[in-house]
Amino acid sequence: MKKILKWTAILLLVGFVIIQFFRIDKSVPEFDKNGDFTVVNSTDAAGIKILKNACYDCHSFETKYPWYAEVAPISWWVGEHIEEGREHVNFSLWTSYSAGDQAEIIEESIEEVEEGKMPDPNYVKQHPEAEMTDANRTALLNYLKSVGGSSVGTGTEEGEEDHD
Ligand code: HEC
Repeated sequence: MKKILKWTAILLLVGFVIIQFFRIDKSVPEFDKNGDFTVVNSTDAAGIKILKNACYDCHSFETKYPWYAEVAPISWWVGEHIEEGREHVNFSLWTSYSAGDQAEIIEESIEEVEEGKMPDPNYVKQHPEAEMTDANRTALLNYLKSVGGSSVGTGTEEGEEDHD
């Protein structure tokens, strides 16, 4: 019995070491830094700070990876989450979205924040700076609402019609 336990432990350890070689891909493609949401909508410093703290790890190419993103299998889970977040919304590629899509993303972002769905509550546990305190939530919503009209220019109405 002791022997079986010992070998099980050794096998688990070896397995753990081997999976460490399967690292997540942290590379980002070439992209236009001037096309970023916060560059296009650059006036509200407080709002920008909160958006970057609370959303940019999963919704931009400016991801700051936590230490546990170095440790498989947690890293795989982290990597997938980021990939999925970027697929839905990537603020680094803001100007590549159509005016209609931009309007829709801002609208959805406001909704997600108001409903407390974003930032992801599990993420906030590990990232206290992303917490939606009343002050943070208000500042972020003000920022998003203020750019909802301006950043999308004349396309706004069209986009909203698309959305309905
Ligand atoms: C820990 C990673 C993570 C963080 C942080 C995060 N998101 Fe997300 N977000 C996701 C993932 C994954 C999805 C896609 C799956 C889903 O809807 O849950 C998503 C989806 C969305 C969507 C699309 C919803 C839809 O219906 O298609 C919006 C809008 C959004 N996030 C906005 C935000 C905003 C705004 C913030 C910051 C306040 C934020 N997210 C923070 C991971 C994240």
